[in-house]
Amino acid sequence: MDMCVTCGSQEGLCKVFEMIVNPGDNILVNEPIYSGTIHALARKYDFLIIEDDPYYFMQFNKKFLTYRRVAGCLCQPWAPTFLSMDVDGRVIRADSFSKVLSSGLRIGFITGPKPLIERIVLHTEVSTMHNSTFTQLLVSQLLHQWGEEGFLAHVERVTDFYRKQRDALLAAADKWLSGLAEWHVPTAGMFLWVKIKGLHDVRTLIEEKAFKKEIFMLPGYNFYLDSSAPCPYFRASFSLASPEQMDMAFQGLAQFIKESL
Ligand SMILES: Cc1ncc(COP(=O)(O)O)c(C=O)c1O
Repeated sequence: MDMCVTCGSQEGLCKVFEMIVNPGDNILVNEPIYSGTIHALARKYDFLIIEDDPYYFMQFNKKFLTYRRVAGCLCQPWAPTFLSMDVDGRVIRADSFSKVLSSGLRIGFITGPKPLIERIVLHTEVSTMHNSTFTQLLVSQLLHQWGEEGFLAHVERVTDFYRKQRDALLAAADKWLSGLAEWHVPTAGMFLWVKIKGLHDVRTLIEEKAFKKEIFMLPGYNFYLDSSAPCPYFRASFSLASPEQMDMAFQGLAQFIKESL
């Protein structure tokens, strides 16, 4: 089965075309893209979209408090999903509670066309059987107790926490990495992608120099299907580190970048 994994961008779009022209070329790209364009391509060239979106609920620019009730539902300005654009049953969407309830739960849910979901259920039954019954029950009870509004209020608290963490990391990046690297302000999730300027590959810098000083970042090649390819990106997480640790980490990294140029 041919597969193309992309989070977006013009680059991502080109890769989708490559995939159509050279089937079998598996690709991973990590930049923003216009989901409407991808969806239109999916319809034109008749391919399925698997929307793996565990960070969906952690959107920083949403106005959580401006709920509107339309036809009895709470409607909010969430970013559009591929699923919301689906008109002909070609999107399978995977959501997760790992990022907003607890990562250890490993509970999520999938939405999509019935025949495809039935195949996934069959596959699950002959592989993992099912998720832990205990954690399924735990999540189910919690959601029933909270209701939709309670869940969204919880999501808002979680998002507030990550927004502050993101801002702390961005402040450290501005302070130490300006001129040495470039990045986009994340609008969701718990990661900052950084591209080091003038460096072809971050492998030695991140895996040897930074690691020895206990500065832990994820080199971008881990997200390539060809992990031997050079990559100027690394991924910094803002989930656990304190603002002081973020500051120290980017200060150290800035020094290593300067030494490597
Ligand atoms: C893109 C992506 N998909 C899926 C997952 C896994 O989600 P889950 O904990 O529900 O298995 C993660 C992170 O854990 C992720 O980053």
